[in-house]
Amino acid sequence: MNPASLINLRLEELARCSEDPNFLYRPFCSKSAALANRKIMNWCASDQLVYWLDSLANIRIRSAQHDPNKKTLVVASHLDTVINAGKFDGPLGFLIAYEMLVKFSASAEDWPFNLEVIGFSDEEGVRFQTTYLGSSVVAGTFQSDWLDLPDQSGKTMREALRSFGCTPGYLNDCCIPRDSWLGYYEVHIEQGPVLQERDLSVGLVRDIYGQIRVSFYIEGKAGHAGTVPMDMRQDALCGLSEFVLWLENFAKCRKRELVATIGQCSVLPGASNVIPGRVEATIDLRSFDMSILQAAAGTIRETLLQISSRRDLKAGWREMQRTDPIFCDEKLNAVLGDAIEEHLGTSLALSSGAGHDAVAISQVAPVCMLFVRCRDGISHHPDEYVSPADIEQALEVSLLFLQKLKQAYRHEKIDG
Ligand code: GLV
Ligand code: MN
Ligand code: MN
Repeated sequence: MNPASLINLRLEELARCSEDPNFLYRPFCSKSAALANRKIMNWCASDQLVYWLDSLANIRIRSAQHDPNKKTLVVASHLDTVINAGKFDGPLGFLIAYEMLVKFSASAEDWPFNLEVIGFSDEEGVRFQTTYLGSSVVAGTFQSDWLDLPDQSGKTMREALRSFGCTPGYLNDCCIPRDSWLGYYEVHIEQGPVLQERDLSVGLVRDIYGQIRVSFYIEGKAGHAGTVPMDMRQDALCGLSEFVLWLENFAKCRKRELVATIGQCSVLPGASNVIPGRVEATIDLRSFDMSILQAAAGTIRETLLQISSRRDLKAGWREMQRTDPIFCDEKLNAVLGDAIEEHLGTSLALSSGAGHDAVAISQVAPVCMLFVRCRDGISHHPDEYVSPADIEQALEVSLLFLQKLKQAYRHEKIDG
């Protein structure tokens, strides 16, 4: 079977590893993640690759010839998904990386660097509201207090890892030391419409937006839905509703600069005949400019407190994560851009509003990314689609990139 058809087949196989048979949902350290990992490990065994699960549940894969004296190019993407996900966001990049390693290991060429493939256990941040868990542990920037974060059922990350068979005490072992990196390469669906509009199968990523993720609550007073008069209520959901519409308008007025989303919300106690006494929700804020993001977060927090106090409610705000916008590495992008141009005749550079593991890795190593066209720019949705022809192009460009990187490294145009 040709490699692009194999990738398509495996995309289907991974998409069947889901918490719910009716839609795709594969969160960090779940049963479905364990099932996906088992499949991948079977592929690794039959391809005679060296593989293991690290202490943060990332799948690590190397060729048998891995040489600790050489620098390492990591090629990776994530294996977790959002709820009701498409099957390409994450797994496509992982499967292309995997095929690159299979070719790399089988070739008789003398490679001046190692190639390691990683399937990151968490990029979406759905379970613990903290994104890039898998890649930050590899970069050595994982904050150990994240282990105490609870999921919605109250289970901490530490407990989730233990029940998954990992030992969170050994997180330092997951890290690739700074001087061992040659660089980082990730293939990902564009999750936007630009490549489709320009009739291009792949493009180069120039920069990735920064983001702030917040978890907040509004506290009022629960009461009887039939007996408490409307003007005597402290309804937390009504406070949230006013805030949500204010936030939409705030971000709409700055639409070229900022996007804001309230994507998760629980109403407590959550009964049809009880006035909502408390709401707990999240905010996801993104921009290409950290100062815009920071100023916006300040205004949003203040407004939340003002709306709440006018309605005799209390509010609390906890910033869960803050990541700066990043630029991909110029030298790696020159090599990748060359590969794209040789293949397609032109190379278009794009900004990414979506977050990627490359953001976490960029703290310690030069990074670059290839975007692949997806139909109508749809993502985080079951209609997400990438054509087999575009998958083939993405794989060919990636293999050409490896060859060009080898030349660039030999001629000292890339130093890691
Ligand atoms: C990941 O897909 C993100 O951008 O949230
Ligand atoms: Mn993704
Ligand atoms: Mn995603």
